[in-house]
Amino acid sequence: MYKSQKVGAIIVAAGRGERMGGIDKIFTPLGGTSVLERVAAVFNDSPYIDHFVIVLTQDNLARGKHLLADKNLTKLVKIVPGGVRRQDSVEAGLNALPLCQWVVIHDGARPLVTSKLIAEVLEAAQESGAAIAAVPVVDTIKSAGEDNYVKSTLDRSHLWAVQTPQVFRFDIIKEGYAKASGDVTDDAALVEALGIRVKLYMGAYDNIKLTTPADLALAEVLCQRKEG
Ligand code: C5P
Repeated sequence: MYKSQKVGAIIVAAGRGERMGGIDKIFTPLGGTSVLERVAAVFNDSPYIDHFVIVLTQDNLARGKHLLADKNLTKLVKIVPGGVRRQDSVEAGLNALPLCQWVVIHDGARPLVTSKLIAEVLEAAQESGAAIAAVPVVDTIKSAGEDNYVKSTLDRSHLWAVQTPQVFRFDIIKEGYAKASGDVTDDAALVEALGIRVKLYMGAYDNIKLTTPADLALAEVLCQRKEG
């Protein structure tokens, strides 16, 4: 049972934010507190997390360390530089994590995650060793060619939009990374390639990923609603 086992977490925040129009989202304040501080505080305060690492771009390393230095983040063990692809950043985080049996991987760009969702995905992972937060898609999804002409319309009833947190047994995610070939946009894909069943756990529509400036405006509203 994971409650007697160590749970480590990796917050990946080493993206270049190319769709953010020049705004460095991790230092942007939401409800007066920066995105980076917010997400770090959720993990620090979660009773299920024993320790966590944060992955930042080399350029943001000093500023990030300085920002978090006096925030009493007792479970934050290391802040390390990431890599070119998201999976390189996760791997850097995995290599920096102290001994643990479970790993929670989370996008730093999702500051509205809750301790409750982390706990629930961790619980959902107990059966097969892998579970990820996801929500059923609300839009109709079409597949198109390079020419932007529709090839097919997918059956929405079976489609989920994947989020983080994603939780894996440590040995499984390590093996996934050891055998990784090619580019993936989430960690579960590497685990699926091992033949491990990945459980989808109902995430939250407000667990948004800050990708464009419009997301920042939405997150500000969601924050105000949450915090009254
Ligand atoms: O680019 P994408 O939207 O998939 O990014 C999801 C998360 O992964 C973000 O929190 C981003 O900072 C992080 N990431 C990273 N290193 C990269 C690319 C993305 O840590 N090279």
